[in-house]
Amino acid sequence: MIKHETIEKNIGLMILLIILVISGGGLAEIVPLMFQSATTKPIDGLRTYTALELEGRDIYIREGCNVCHSQMIRPFRAETERYGQYNTANEGVWEHPFLWGSKRTGPDLARVGERYSDDWHRAHLYNPRDVVPESKMPSYPWLFTDKLSGKDTAKKMEVLKSMGVPFTAEQIAGAQDAVAGKNEIDAVVAYLQSLGKLHDNYNSKR
Ligand code: HEC
Repeated sequence: MIKHETIEKNIGLMILLIILVISGGGLAEIVPLMFQSATTKPIDGLRTYTALELEGRDIYIREGCNVCHSQMIRPFRAETERYGQYNTANEGVWEHPFLWGSKRTGPDLARVGERYSDDWHRAHLYNPRDVVPESKMPSYPWLFTDKLSGKDTAKKMEVLKSMGVPFTAEQIAGAQDAVAGKNEIDAVVAYLQSLGKLHDNYNSKR
């Protein structure tokens, strides 16, 4: 039996035991989540992104939108009153990478889809101050002139498919045509309108 005093006076032993305790606790909390159907199976009726939405998502990441906007409504009254139904893990099983985040310089966007018109989003992204005078969000005017070629879209979908996202052969074959020649803004707006709308289980609020 090691006396507690021995542990407290031997920093090497203490470090070792701390590592053991934290690893054990971590494993006990994290490993079961990898096997629970509530966290590994997609929610009923979940659809995949369209080719255009997927490109929009990549632009969203490129522009760092996720650095100011989370996509995870937490299960607290203040959050659900403002943003709608809290997020559940089964909504995000096909998200690679996750954009949940916790930094909220701007509002959470997990359920922003269909809350505003396409025109509102276009005006807002061109210059946020035109529609929200006090906004400190940056402007993104280049999205209106930069065009998509769509030459990598099918490849991106194939990679995601290899990670378990069930894109159909038809979607992949039509991917380039679906995005080629569109402006980046079309893709970003399509993506924003899909947020929270990839399934219709939680259509209660806002
Ligand atoms: C520097 C931080 C910052 C970045 C980067 C940023 N935003 Fe924002 N965003 C904000 C703030 C602050 C607001 C609230 C004021 C407003 O509506 O403009 C906001 C509001 C929004 C809203 C309205 C949300 C609502 O519920 O009213 C949308 C949609 C949005 N941003 C999308 C984007 C997209 C898309 C990008 C990337 C192209 C982006 N944001 C990048 C800070 C940011």
